[in-house]
Amino acid sequence: MSKLLTVFGATGNQGGSVIRTVLGHPQLSKQFRIRAITRDPSKPSGKALADQGVEVVKADLMDKSSLATAIKGSNAVFAVTNFWETMSKETEVKQGRNIAEVSAELNVEHLVWSSLPNVTTLSNGALPNVEHFDGKAEIDAYIRELGVPMTSFVPGFYMSNLKSAMQKGEDGSYTLAWPVPASTKFPLFSAGTDTGKFVASILLHREQLLNANVLAASGWWSGQEIVDTFKEVTGKKAQYAEPPADVWKGFLPNEKIAQEMLENFLLVRDYKYFGANAEQNLTSAIELLEEAPRSLKEYFESEQW
Ligand SMILES: NC(=O)c1ccc[n+]([C@@H]2O[C@H](COP(=O)([O-])OP(=O)(O)OC[C@H]3O[C@@H](n4cnc5c(N)ncnc54)[C@H](OP(=O)(O)O)[C@@H]3O)[C@@H](O)[C@H]2O)c1
Repeated sequence: MSKLLTVFGATGNQGGSVIRTVLGHPQLSKQFRIRAITRDPSKPSGKALADQGVEVVKADLMDKSSLATAIKGSNAVFAVTNFWETMSKETEVKQGRNIAEVSAELNVEHLVWSSLPNVTTLSNGALPNVEHFDGKAEIDAYIRELGVPMTSFVPGFYMSNLKSAMQKGEDGSYTLAWPVPASTKFPLFSAGTDTGKFVASILLHREQLLNANVLAASGWWSGQEIVDTFKEVTGKKAQYAEPPADVWKGFLPNEKIAQEMLENFLLVRDYKYFGANAEQNLTSAIELLEEAPRSLKEYFESEQW
């Protein structure tokens, strides 16, 4: 256990999965001890980490000086930012730049950055409002610019989004209403169970994957296939609906987020979420895994409906 792996987002889906996987991994658990970062080590999820024998350190991505304490002595770092807490691209980019700068100053040997594609660039400006993607891509470019040895981990569309997306009607049947055709295929990803599987493969294949984008999902399912799998697993009635874009946007709380989310769906329809070579690159990433990622069927089986 000569090396130190520091994990941001330790109390969340992605970071929590990384910690569980590394602790349970025969090789990585011997290679790395873990430092888990949270803003509040005293909360139950912080205490649960300490109970697993993990070092828990308090730090805030907004406070660069606290990141020096968090990252000091780390050989590898897994870093994720949570756009949805502030819904501000500026704040997310500031947090990511703090991680990049401190990692560069402290000579981190391997920064695994939870990234996403730059949708504005990918779409040649046709989809300029997907800020929770573009911000992470800007951070990604900054990490590379600073020369920090890095690998980008690029998560697909969370399966857990389906928990709220499958809307139960008064007659007890479910509707999945998305503003894209039923044939649009989504790269579905179980963040809470599978982030660690992909990050383990990145840590184990460091040399091969330096500067690479490692796409993370279990495979591709269309809206219709999602509904069909739901029906098969639960025995409940369900259908897919494609409301007109303006009607769909009206379901969301505010115009800015509605436009961002609409363009997020158009990214899936027009650019396969990940952009060029999406299928091929995802297949390559899955082939490097030691353990199969969770299928959509397994996800539906794991939830109460
Ligand atoms: N939903 C999707 O389909 C999807 C797909 C791809 C990517 N994503 C991205 O996934 C990200 C969220 O990751 P997740 O699901 O793992 O998040 P999560 O489960 O909501 O957890 C968020 C984590 O971030 C930490 N955090 C937030 N602000 C922080 C700060 N200022 N300083 C230090 N730590 C901070 C929290 O730690 P404490 O509260 O303990 O401090 C917590 O551990 C989002 O940015 C989203 O864009 C989502």
